[in-house]
Amino acid sequence: MPLPSPVPAGAASLLLPPDILNRLEFASLFGNTQPVELELGCGDGSFLLQWAAQNPDRNFLGVERLKGRVTKIDRKGRRQGLTNLRGLRLEAGYVLEWKIAPASLTALHVYFPDPWPKKRHHKRRLIQAPFTVLAARVLAPGGRLFLRTDHVEYFAQMEEVMAAAPDFERCEEPEGLLDVKTDFEVGFNAEGKPTNHSAWRRR
Ligand SMILES: C[S@@+](CC[C@H](N)C(=O)[O-])C[C@H]1O[C@@H](n2cnc3c(N)ncnc32)[C@H](O)[C@@H]1O
Repeated sequence: MPLPSPVPAGAASLLLPPDILNRLEFASLFGNTQPVELELGCGDGSFLLQWAAQNPDRNFLGVERLKGRVTKIDRKGRRQGLTNLRGLRLEAGYVLEWKIAPASLTALHVYFPDPWPKKRHHKRRLIQAPFTVLAARVLAPGGRLFLRTDHVEYFAQMEEVMAAAPDFERCEEPEGLLDVKTDFEVGFNAEGKPTNHSAWRRR
């Protein structure tokens, strides 16, 4: 029996949660119990709109703090008729810590997070040791974390942080994933900056 959904069937959703304190219930959010993948800092959804269209047997949640970008995901998702994509306007760290149930995700995508290049701003970077603890908590065993950045020095930090995380082991991206580019990626690649990427499996 289909589960109740807060959005009309056939629609993507701009989700502004009325209750920011409780964890999301994916079954009622999506109206089914398909596996769920999350993208943090998804921008205007350039990756998720393509990936969700290619994988109708999975659900996708995009987290982004800028309202205009989430609105754009909603508009484009509806136009594409995607039923398996939702946008959430909220802060990424807060979402990981408070909105996602333990072991409830099959994949976590983090693409071109703000690099905060100045040394005094490095503490603002998302991929640091505390992030690996939160990511390990929300990913189901065997779930995967996918990282991409154009920023060579931040990529070195990502590699170091992830290699030191006891709950993760290096793995490969699934076939076709790297062919799906984000907006920032297309821009960086056009400027001659290649994509640095890695994939990690939750033990
Ligand atoms: C450099 S852009 C990359 C966007 C997209 N991933 C892409 O590759 O096209 C980084 C995005 O992360 C969002 N962002 C940065 N910090 C965030 C946070 N703490 N919580 C949610 N979104 C955040 C920004 O608003 C921006 O849209």
